[in-house]
Amino acid sequence: MENHYKQISSLIYDFTKPPGTSIDGDLAFYKSQLLPIEGKVLEAGVGNGRLYIPLLKYKVDIVGIDKSQEMINICQKNLEKENLLGKLICQDLENYIELNTYEYIIVPNASFNLLESRNKAIKVLKNFYQSLKEKGTLIIDLIMPIEFKAGSNHEFSHNINGQKIVVKNLSKEINWIEQYTVNQIEYYINEQLKESQEFKLSWYGCEEFCNILNSVGFNDGVFIVNYGNKTNLNVKTITFIFKKY
Ligand SMILES: C[S@@+](CC[C@H](N)C(=O)[O-])C[C@H]1O[C@@H](n2cnc3c(N)ncnc32)[C@H](O)[C@@H]1O
Repeated sequence: MENHYKQISSLIYDFTKPPGTSIDGDLAFYKSQLLPIEGKVLEAGVGNGRLYIPLLKYKVDIVGIDKSQEMINICQKNLEKENLLGKLICQDLENYIELNTYEYIIVPNASFNLLESRNKAIKVLKNFYQSLKEKGTLIIDLIMPIEFKAGSNHEFSHNINGQKIVVKNLSKEINWIEQYTVNQIEYYINEQLKESQEFKLSWYGCEEFCNILNSVGFNDGVFIVNYGNKTNLNVKTITFIFKKY
């Protein structure tokens, strides 16, 4: 199964989370981590530019990469609306290395959980390692499936450009042994099924992920729960901040 944001799923992401939207305080968190910096930043899984565009406005020298051409097209349109020039690359992270280039690589909002297998995840981490400069920093958000209930259905309806789009999201499977969840998402326009996609999200234990990062060569790491917000008692997001040493 390949996770892919197609036409309608990308459109819905952009409609519900336009550039500048903060999820649980992540925009302020990334600003505080990155500003002020001199070097280049890579946002892996840039999506519609939700964080990329505000960071670019703060004069961060940032490159965005995403394997979904549909998402890249939306991000490009969002840049044009703001009269901004960005650098966007359409490529799968497993095939992208830019040797010793970036001061920071950031992977916000569960993009890393979308890597379909552990082998692919390790390949991507090795690529990040090579693409970072010496002493460069990797920041990855991982989400935990705390709200997942197999068999539950959620339905949302959006009015976009005069069209009613209904999204039916079925939480299909949770695999406790291999640590992944699968959602089946269907998109209807005028009651006709127009797009359908399964999304597989892999999760990692905190210690397990620190060990994986160490095994690839990353060191001097810390992790932060829910962007430091102590009022949320559920562990939803864990952010790993590790160095290339
Ligand atoms: C949940 S969105 C996050 C977008 C953006 N980073 C944000 O914070 O709003 C995940 C993005 O990661 C991209 N993605 C997932 N797997 C990828 C891969 N293997 N290579 C490149 N991009 C990938 C998806 O296409 C999607 O645009």
